[in-house]
Amino acid sequence: MYWEREIETLPRPKLEALQLARLQQTIRLASRSTYYGTLYRRLNLTADSVTALTDIDKLPFTTKQDLRDSFPYGMLSIGKSEVIRLHSSSGTTGNPTAVFHNQHDIESWANLMARSLYSVGVRSSDVFQNICGYGLFTGGLGFQYGAERLGCLTIPAGAGNSQRQIKLIRDYGTNVVHAIPSYVHRLAEVMEQEGFDPRQSTELRTFIIGAEPHSEEQRLRIEAVFGVKAFNSFGLSEMNGPGVAFECTKQNGLHVWEDAFFVEIIDPSTLEPVADGEIGELVMTTLDRQAMPLLRFRTGDLTRILPGSCPCGRTHIRLDRITGRSDDMFIVKGCNIFPMQIEGVLMRIPDLGSNYLITLETIDGVDELIVEAEIARNVDGTDSQRLAWLTALLTRQIRDETLVTPIVKLLPPDTLPQSEGKAVRVRELRRP
Ligand code: COA
Ligand code: AMP
Ligand code: ZN
Repeated sequence: MYWEREIETLPRPKLEALQLARLQQTIRLASRSTYYGTLYRRLNLTADSVTALTDIDKLPFTTKQDLRDSFPYGMLSIGKSEVIRLHSSSGTTGNPTAVFHNQHDIESWANLMARSLYSVGVRSSDVFQNICGYGLFTGGLGFQYGAERLGCLTIPAGAGNSQRQIKLIRDYGTNVVHAIPSYVHRLAEVMEQEGFDPRQSTELRTFIIGAEPHSEEQRLRIEAVFGVKAFNSFGLSEMNGPGVAFECTKQNGLHVWEDAFFVEIIDPSTLEPVADGEIGELVMTTLDRQAMPLLRFRTGDLTRILPGSCPCGRTHIRLDRITGRSDDMFIVKGCNIFPMQIEGVLMRIPDLGSNYLITLETIDGVDELIVEAEIARNVDGTDSQRLAWLTALLTRQIRDETLVTPIVKLLPPDTLPQSEGKAVRVRELRRP
């Protein structure tokens, strides 16, 4: 049974008492890491400094940059020999952000995932197809472990190759699919090209969509095309990955599993808490992680806590859809990218100038990353061989940096807007 009734419907005072006990334990554990140990000693902070949940504001925020600066093991709270898994978030410049797990963390994450899947009606009799990058991406193994724990026949389909995905769906009678919403549209288009209607020719019932921003309209379109119910799943590698917040069958916001995560919403410019129900930056603290606890991690995601209670009976708060970012990160094909990563690649190639334009556009059902860049003044713009070589080089280097193969267009000098002031570097032309 993965309807953990007692914990999911815990009255708020009891839930908050549990959070406080776990927060104090998390501070104790985190203090064993080089990063938090040094910081908290300097600030004279211990678990005893936090005697109420509101005292959390005594602790400094943790940022992606802190993780990068502590690379590779500075955030580890346990001996390296007890660590069993590494994941790493895409979308970082310089050092990657590494996230480590011990056996307890993997167990607890799998339980949260199983609980999440159960909450949207997935059961052990289901065939679950995970159309998501495996490897260092958390959506692969995260959903795999959760669906297996629930007892589903779990197909680790991975990303890409739509025709094979469709064959798997049909051959094995897949009922439940996890994929990013933009890819689900691509899947629909390929099914249409193959001449069949997913509502008639498949046993699909449930889609779990997440890992990138999407609108209510997108959800409704997916539901109509496939004849399914689609549920939003939110997570980030630093907080495990998926299984942080999940919609229940009421589809009215993302329940955060508050026995495992503590939520704050702050104004990203003042760093003060926003008023109840206002939009701000989501800040999260792990409450049940041992290898690498994180306290007051600034996610960069903008959202708000929804008012009221949910008719499903769960007492855990609900977040609204993510409405944007407090930084300039964007997500394409499920990969997080900062414009600075692309700029860094361009700057390392002497044959290219410093102006560039990134366009995100849906072409043939696939969201593409288009990078336009100017050649340097000393490069002969009529030398087609040189230009082809440069295009291939830039394409490969951007793919290595971002995991997405870009469409590269080289332009003569002075074609793109100059970089003085705030030049527009990213154009959003994707299908809404
Ligand atoms: N999930 C599943 N398939 C995807 C996808 C995604 N996020 N993004 C693109 N694809 C599909 C494309 O539709 C294409 O398949 P098709 O032509 O048979 O329809 C195939 O992957 C390759 O796409 P292409 O655009 O040629 O490749 P790329 O080199 O730019 O991208 C990916 C490579 C898709 C493998 C890489 O971006 C990736 O691994 N993305 C998955 C990230 C992910 O799962 N994130 C969620 C983490 S929770
Ligand atoms: P990663 O660490 O690579 O798993 O990426 C995490 C980021 O993906 C989050 O910080 C969000 O910006 C984004 N993300 C994940 N799930 C969702 C979702 N359901 N809706 C909007 N954005 C999401
Ligand atoms: Zn609910």
